[in-house]
Amino acid sequence: MSAALTLYVPRDSAALAVGADAVVDALRAQAAATGTELTVVRNGSRGLLWLEVLLEVATPQGRVAYGPVSAEDVPTLWPVLLADAAGQGGSHPLRQGVTEQIPYLARQERLTFARVGVTDPLSLGDYAAHEGWAGLKAAVAQDSAAILQAVTHSGLRGRGGAAFPAGIKWRTVAQAPGSIKYVVCNADEGDSGTFADRMVMEGDPYLLIEGMAIAALAVGAEQGFIYVRSEYPQAVAVLAEAIERATQAGWIGANVAGSGKRFDLQVRMGAGSYVCGEETAMLESLEGRRGIVRAKPPLPALQGLFGQPTVINNVLTFAAVPTILARGADFYRHYGVGRSHGTLPFQLAGNIRHGGLVEKAFGLTLRELLDGFGGGTRSGRPIKAVQVGGPLGAYLSESQWDVPLDYEAYAAIGAVVGHGGIVVHDDTADLAALARYAMEFCALESCGKCTPCRIGSTRGVEVIDRLVANRANPQVHEQQVTLLRDLCDTMLGGSLCAMGGMTPYPVLSALNHYPADFGLAPAPVASETAAAN
Ligand SMILES: Cc1cc2nc3c(=O)[nH]c(=O)nc-3n(C[C@H](O)[C@H](O)[C@H](O)COP(=O)(O)O)c2cc1C
Ligand code: SF4
Repeated sequence: MSAALTLYVPRDSAALAVGADAVVDALRAQAAATGTELTVVRNGSRGLLWLEVLLEVATPQGRVAYGPVSAEDVPTLWPVLLADAAGQGGSHPLRQGVTEQIPYLARQERLTFARVGVTDPLSLGDYAAHEGWAGLKAAVAQDSAAILQAVTHSGLRGRGGAAFPAGIKWRTVAQAPGSIKYVVCNADEGDSGTFADRMVMEGDPYLLIEGMAIAALAVGAEQGFIYVRSEYPQAVAVLAEAIERATQAGWIGANVAGSGKRFDLQVRMGAGSYVCGEETAMLESLEGRRGIVRAKPPLPALQGLFGQPTVINNVLTFAAVPTILARGADFYRHYGVGRSHGTLPFQLAGNIRHGGLVEKAFGLTLRELLDGFGGGTRSGRPIKAVQVGGPLGAYLSESQWDVPLDYEAYAAIGAVVGHGGIVVHDDTADLAALARYAMEFCALESCGKCTPCRIGSTRGVEVIDRLVANRANPQVHEQQVTLLRDLCDTMLGGSLCAMGGMTPYPVLSALNHYPADFGLAPAPVASETAAAN
């Protein structure tokens, strides 16, 4: 052997989709041909998605990144990688420099994503060496009340959309009567432009397992389920392996981290319906039935899975918990603004030059994300509209991009932060068409249980069609606008869940901020807030 080389190539779906396995094959072939001792670590993705496949080489200065790398680049890269590994630097068009110093990464505040892309996701040794299990160990040393107090005091709110305080939910389950309780992770991740849950599951699965185990200790649950969408086969495979290894190692199972308490974990696959992400529809699906929304009350915290008290949280909510227990509630609480504590892994998607994962404390602005991280549109044209918070989130026009990203400030402008998904459109976007799509999406995905959503969404598509077709007929046009606003009002106030209840957000924001796309004269922006709240 002439030289030794340690390389990192992600095993994350985003990297696999653009040829990560082919890159590894080419690297191994090169190593065999040159007699090089090669170690390839299949890490998670760093979340700089425009640079995938992001190949890193271990050097005396730390890891150095190259991207986007394809298998065809490997022959020219090879001597440069060897030079880097030997500490002699290197020059190549794909060279991005020391990974941690790439501004997109260096300017983030990664708490949840601290390990993602750094470690081998399935290596228990790597996990432990990077502060893994510190939160669970701290939890085992406390009683349930102290864990609940820490999570409550941290200010952690649900990251799945509704932003409900996690500590209050956990306390409700802990205090609910009954000896059987469950912990369920909602990993349906159906929002447009979102991928943070998947990145955690594929890139740092023990983090989610640790967060769920802490929840189980806090509420007295012995069984947990992770409900993963079927479009995430890679995440399912990684989780299954991680659960097996964590159980074998005694972190979960019959004696959670030596606590004497039991917690078993299983993965369940959904079948690709957006509404199955709604927590009660998810419970129906988990119980083997069609995903139809349940009326509340009873709250799932009191009567959830199989009628038992159940903690339901999003992946990112559970994934924030180990840091809170390991470093203290005050440490976590210190990040953020107002009542939005901690960090949120924002996901930049759509027509954006530098799409990817940006974890920052609450309080930064959309403009900072779009320009500072995203670098404008991929098409090079001006940004026209940005949908924040998934398909039920409002479209934000430029006048709103300086509002701090915090739950209350966004609610005040009729928008939602949601799961942190950000989808960018350039000036070729037609907001009337996007409003129509919001209604159409609702019609397709509605579970059908309540009339405002089931019927209203179909009528919504028709009204928008009539509205657009009658641009030249002011009288009919005006009637249709009135009808559309009335319909949105009914859906907002009369729907059983947020599927029908929030579809008016994208529709009204499009109508109010982009009237010209609907054939309306620009008018002072009406406040959607009153209608949306
Ligand atoms: C139509 C619809 C889809 C939803 N999809 C998801 C989802 O994919 N993942 C998720 O965590 N929450 C989703 N939610 C929110 C859940 O109902 C629930 O609030 C959440 O799982 C609770 O976890 P959290 O408190 O940690 O956010 C959805 C809600 C609705 C109305
Ligand atoms: S709002 Fe839509 S998805 Fe929600 S319960 Fe009613 S019909 Fe079902």
